[in-house]
Amino acid sequence: MCFYVESYKITFYCKTCIFSAMKNIEGAVVTAIGTPNIALTKYWGRRNADINLPYNSSLSITVDESLYTKTSVMFSDKLTRDYLFINAEEQDLNDPQNEKSVYTGRILKEMRSKAGMKSPAFVASYNSFPTAAGFASSASGASTLSFTVAKALGLELTNLEISTFCRKISGSACRSLFGGFAKWQKGEKDDGSDSYAEPVFDEKYWPEVIDVVTIIKANRKKVSTSEGHNRTPKTSLLFKARPAVAEDRTREIIEAIRVKDFDKMAEITMKDSNSMHATMMDSWPPIIYLDDRSIAVINAVHDLNASEGRNVAAYTFDAGPNPQIITLRKYEKKVLEILEPIAEKDKIIVAGQGSGPRLLKEGEGSLIDVDKLKPIPV
Ligand code: PMV
Repeated sequence: MCFYVESYKITFYCKTCIFSAMKNIEGAVVTAIGTPNIALTKYWGRRNADINLPYNSSLSITVDESLYTKTSVMFSDKLTRDYLFINAEEQDLNDPQNEKSVYTGRILKEMRSKAGMKSPAFVASYNSFPTAAGFASSASGASTLSFTVAKALGLELTNLEISTFCRKISGSACRSLFGGFAKWQKGEKDDGSDSYAEPVFDEKYWPEVIDVVTIIKANRKKVSTSEGHNRTPKTSLLFKARPAVAEDRTREIIEAIRVKDFDKMAEITMKDSNSMHATMMDSWPPIIYLDDRSIAVINAVHDLNASEGRNVAAYTFDAGPNPQIITLRKYEKKVLEILEPIAEKDKIIVAGQGSGPRLLKEGEGSLIDVDKLKPIPV
């Protein structure tokens, strides 16, 4: 069976029908929603920068639609080239300064050729949260884009297979293809065919685990993650020890989640965030994403855990100063209390676990004005 979209209607076709059905894909808009994930054991540094292969496996939680990316895709022979709009702003798919856009253009081409499609694509994407501020906006964006493009082209791909495409735009994105807890298997092969994400425990397994997302700074970061992924392995001596440690932690955290040992899971989460930021700071020139308020959150979480006699919360930071606090639903109030003196109330989002990207139904908010060939601003 393959998935195929006909004038906003989703239909199932057998594999051999796909080429005859192709003319109907033309001009149809497919829209999907996806969400970020937060890594509890982190991906930092790539052994192959061209196709984003990591040095170690990583484990994440996909968050619910409290934070989301919505993406609409249309293939049309009325277009003369591919277009990508993020938050209604056009992105240059050939800008060497914007690696993720260039990789997006490449993935569009790869997927289109896999489907035998000739027409250019119009892609409009909207993030409900700050872009490029260390909030995994690229994870949410790239996973939703790859998922929507695959559906729009009627490609018969599993989410695991889609994860290998979107990994090439943004490595961490591959984990957002699955709900709950997902693992990105680092793989061994040079062509990356065994470097994909897979589900570990779905969102119903341990739903008490939540993510308190705190926006301290929404500015675009000074050192892009792409630059950081390259600089750290080249210049940090500390980084030499990291891949083996992070690989062990990924194995251990999966075991802690399997037995629902929050104390252990939290300890590994905090240690791995600290370890990644230590290698960033050890890079040359140093990469410093945390600021004084990030450090205040780290101290406040340790104080809370000390007063509870065990870890009831864990901080983790991606490539930015914004903390994400992993806790259990019953400690949500206590976590909000410790954040109150540090962060503004309206900048704190409490997210549960999400279920991965999903297609929207006809009329559920396309982002493309088909007549004017323009994005529809949200
Ligand atoms: O996927 P990228 O290239 O945006 O890298 C992001 C890496 C971190 O967010 C810092 C860690 C992770 O595993 O998500």
